[in-house]
Amino acid sequence: MASNLEVVIMAAGKGTRMKSSLPKVLHPVAGKPMVCHVIDTARQLQARQTVVITGHGAEQVEAALTASYGSAGLQFARQMPQLGTGHAVQQAAPHLADEATVVVLSGDVPLTQADTLQALIAASGGDKLALLTIEFVDPTGYGRIVRDAAGQVQAIVEQKDASDEQRRIREVYSGIMAVPARLLKPWLAKLDNHNAQQEFYLTDVVKFAVADGVPVVAHVIADAAQVAGVNSPAQLAELERIHQRRRAEAFMSEGVRIIDPARFDVRGELVCAQDVQIDVNCIFEGRVELGQGVKIGANCVLANCRIEAGAVIHPFTHIDGEKLGVTVGEGALIGPFARLRPGAQLGAEVHIGNFVEVKNSTLAKGAKANHLAYLGDATVGERVNYGAGSITANYDGANKHRTVIEADVHIGSNCVLVAPVTIGAGGTVGGGSTITKSTEPGALSVARGKQISIANYKRPQKMK
Ligand code: UD1
Ligand code: CA
Repeated sequence: MASNLEVVIMAAGKGTRMKSSLPKVLHPVAGKPMVCHVIDTARQLQARQTVVITGHGAEQVEAALTASYGSAGLQFARQMPQLGTGHAVQQAAPHLADEATVVVLSGDVPLTQADTLQALIAASGGDKLALLTIEFVDPTGYGRIVRDAAGQVQAIVEQKDASDEQRRIREVYSGIMAVPARLLKPWLAKLDNHNAQQEFYLTDVVKFAVADGVPVVAHVIADAAQVAGVNSPAQLAELERIHQRRRAEAFMSEGVRIIDPARFDVRGELVCAQDVQIDVNCIFEGRVELGQGVKIGANCVLANCRIEAGAVIHPFTHIDGEKLGVTVGEGALIGPFARLRPGAQLGAEVHIGNFVEVKNSTLAKGAKANHLAYLGDATVGERVNYGAGSITANYDGANKHRTVIEADVHIGSNCVLVAPVTIGAGGTVGGGSTITKSTEPGALSVARGKQISIANYKRPQKMK
């Protein structure tokens, strides 16, 4: 059955208390702009259309969302100036089909769950106005749900318009409703701003529904995080922790050992096989895959990488594959204090020790670089031992060149391999050598203290 669900996301408000030039709804939760959490929830519901109401920072918000989602199923409606939530939804009305069911959400309420909205849509049932509500011990600031003696919802009264008696009501409107468009549209057309804030209140549709004999139903939830809005940096941090805690609990329920769920951050997509163990203060960004039995030590940052079964990432390691990705092979040992950059492809049982940087290089099974070294644009064979302080000089100031180190080579300490260069299989390079020419298999190469004549040096030109 094709969905007739259309979602309106109010995102025109200013967010003064964020004290930031970034529009409020673009501030990230779990590495993703909060409005994108709301859009992704709408997509989980298979909404056939999402209309985002923009105002403050409209260009920036629209550009960011178009970059993330393209324009399929996503519309923008500008609200200038911002005259209230009813006025905001009025801007979306021309985009809404009469036979649609409309769900109204806010771009600054990121943690609402799809199943909660599904229940709200079911409560609306194609012919009712359904409100998502919650009871607060301290309802200050929220619109109160006013019910009659029989418990039927009669109105939502805003804090500033409420009588003392109404202010004692603890059930509040979450800001989220589901309603058929054919009912909503004529109510929107009737809104006025005759109230304490001189705003067009979306919440006034409740009294129109009551007057028209349309049933108003409340779907009451208990989970405050799902309706919590972000108005300040402190609230943003609070929701971030709640969100991360919930993700940690979900991972733990699938068997992942997280040493402290309060010190665990996923800012993207983390996929864990069985028996994964994650120590404190680790951050996972982009897409990260951890194979069976992988152990991640404390204080690691891992982004866009795949760590295969049995590998151990020791503390303080930084891995970022960016677009090229990083692979760490089975049983490899990485760190502490290692840095793996885009295109590092490490085979099984590779060892990368402290203060070793690897970029755009392939290391075959059993290769080791244990201390203070750089491997960039290199192809390293099986069982190579790469000494402390050695580097590939892969960049001549204009172009990058490859270094090939064949199987079973030993590179001593403090060597400079000036690319392009190949060290033949089984060869040894003596400590302190600067190697500028390829060497034969099995050869012992020692090249120390050779001076370059600066007068004769010609800077290479960039290759076309
Ligand atoms: C609104 C509800 C209130 C509810 C509360 C829940 C109304 C009149 N009141 O109040 O009953 O308890 O949410 O948080 O709806 N926005 C626009 N354009 C505008 C005004 C607001 O896009 O002209 C957006 C804001 O950016 C925000 C959302 O609408 O995302 C809600 O606006 P906000 O000012 O926070 O509404 P409240 O006064 O808190
Ligand atoms: Ca609010």
